[in-house]
Amino acid sequence: MITKNKILPTLMFSFLLSQGAFSATTDSSYILVTPDCLINKFDAPYQTLSHNKNFSLIKLNVENFTKLIGVRNSQKTLCGGFINVTDAYNSSHFSNENSALFLEKYIPKTSISKKQFNYGINHTKEVNQLLALLNPDEMWKNLTKLSSYTDRYANSDTGLGAARWIKSQVEQIAKDNGRTDVTTSIINTGTSYKQPSVVVKIGNSTKPAVVVGAHMDTLSSFWGNMPGADDDGTGSVTVLELARVLLSSSMHFQKPIYLIWYSAEEEGLVGSQYVVAEFKKDNIPVEEVIHFDMTGYTPNNDKTMWLLSDNTDKELTSYLELLINTYIKKPLKYTKCGYACSDHATWTNNGYKAAIAFEAEDGKYNPYIHTSQDTMSQLSLEHMTDFTKLAIAFTGELADPVS
Ligand code: BES
Ligand code: ZN
Repeated sequence: MITKNKILPTLMFSFLLSQGAFSATTDSSYILVTPDCLINKFDAPYQTLSHNKNFSLIKLNVENFTKLIGVRNSQKTLCGGFINVTDAYNSSHFSNENSALFLEKYIPKTSISKKQFNYGINHTKEVNQLLALLNPDEMWKNLTKLSSYTDRYANSDTGLGAARWIKSQVEQIAKDNGRTDVTTSIINTGTSYKQPSVVVKIGNSTKPAVVVGAHMDTLSSFWGNMPGADDDGTGSVTVLELARVLLSSSMHFQKPIYLIWYSAEEEGLVGSQYVVAEFKKDNIPVEEVIHFDMTGYTPNNDKTMWLLSDNTDKELTSYLELLINTYIKKPLKYTKCGYACSDHATWTNNGYKAAIAFEAEDGKYNPYIHTSQDTMSQLSLEHMTDFTKLAIAFTGELADPVS
């Protein structure tokens, strides 16, 4: 009998090859950081370069990489995804960094803080002005569009189309509001993926920036439509609505605000690694990063907002608590992912202060993600809107509005 696990990855492999996903890497190896719970379920050959705590740095060929994607995608409950660190590892090898040291950088750390808590509430008037501009209907309309793509897979034409649509939406908003201080750009996801990340800079300042992001990609629709309404359509429309609110206000900020829609998060945080590398290369200083990934599902209609306490900065995460208590007044609690579950971890791993707010506690989040049932009918607009309020409060306070 052919088991599901053996045939699916093979079909997937042919499909991905036909999409050109591996055009640049067909004869090279993949280097991944994988949690033990995932690799223990994997019976194809791979080489372990290093092991530390519950994580391994592994090397495998493209065919077995595709098999691993199959294993990850067929998990009923997520135990942990892999980070695709191929490019970072290959470039670190030029400097002779050993594998153990390399892996160490990717081991999840509980919240760390380098300095004392020194964030406050300083711009109540401006934040309330911005909050008054928030329109949840716009979020719902944008989510309807984003979840109508067959998929937003990082290597499909529809994934590329979704990135172009997001970029053109922001360009239209900037035009409608006569803004000349908005720069829209893309950062390519290496050479193996069609979908780039989309980056918008608001303001002309070169001071340390505030970054707000979400990932726009979904898994491939090879097995059926991938609407990705919650994962991460919700975060993506939060960032879009933040763009509309900021650009339609006449408020200006002392610090630049970067809005980012990452590509290829689902492929192992690939897009955000290229984004962070580009920020470093261009010497763009970044002070704080907030990330939104899944904000719409409310188990038992519970509107608690959850903050992740691993792979995040403790001080910044405590500040989110203060912002929620001040401006949103909803219950909040802490939970953990247990692994590098989204793009905030890429910033954290590179030494930046990053935080993430999330829809539910571990184990109670949207059970339909990564399936064709990740649709808007499962989602609460009120819950999503609370996270957009948080995005507005975060930028309104931290980017120093000019009054
Ligand atoms: N939106 C999820 C992250 C997530 C899922 C956070 C469940 C918390 C609970 C994200 O898109 C995702 O699927 N992440 C992957 C890991 C990634 C590195 C490929 C995962 O969780 O398996
Ligand atoms: Zn996902």
